[in-house]
Amino acid sequence: MLNIRPGLCILALMLTLNAAVLRADEAALIQRGKYLTLIGGCNDCHTPGFPESGGSIPEDQWLTGVPLGWNGPWGTTYAVNLRLLLTSMTEERWLKFAHEIKARPPMPSWALNAMPEEDLRAIFKFVNKLGPGGSVMPPYTPPGDLPKTAYIEFVPKSPKP
Ligand code: HEC
Repeated sequence: MLNIRPGLCILALMLTLNAAVLRADEAALIQRGKYLTLIGGCNDCHTPGFPESGGSIPEDQWLTGVPLGWNGPWGTTYAVNLRLLLTSMTEERWLKFAHEIKARPPMPSWALNAMPEEDLRAIFKFVNKLGPGGSVMPPYTPPGDLPKTAYIEFVPKSPKP
């Protein structure tokens, strides 16, 4: 019994250290997710008032979706609520979804398609740390149908001669 104890103590210490390392890894991944969300421009379209405020919207309001339509030849799209979307998915489902997504403009699907798994996991962890929040955004409206919300006309215009 007496000579088992030191072994148990070492084991307990190793488990504690291991848990601490895992927590530190998780925290680093969440921080990276926040960084990628910022430089990936996700807030620019998916967070209400973000560009207008010079990026000073509090983190707990990030990525809740914007009910302002983007109207163009593709119809009218809305930057969805990523908080509700990502907290309703498993991490594995998100990886597949993000790699295969082909959304309508102006969503830069190619940015998500190009992200390595590690980066997508980081974004997933960050959004899940924020948790669900906000409400579901209006549905996509096909070309020709008038949007039921305020919208931005995303069509190039030539100067009048
Ligand atoms: C220029 C604006 C813009 C930027 C920047 C942007 N998005 Fe989007 N996003 C949209 C719009 C608009 C839609 C809806 C497209 C549609 O209806 O097909 C969308 C759709 C999505 C969807 C698909 C949701 C679904 O249910 O199909 C995901 C996931 C997504 N965005 C994640 C991101 C992430 C992550 C970033 C940052 C890397 C990002 N977006 C950057 C505008 C943007």
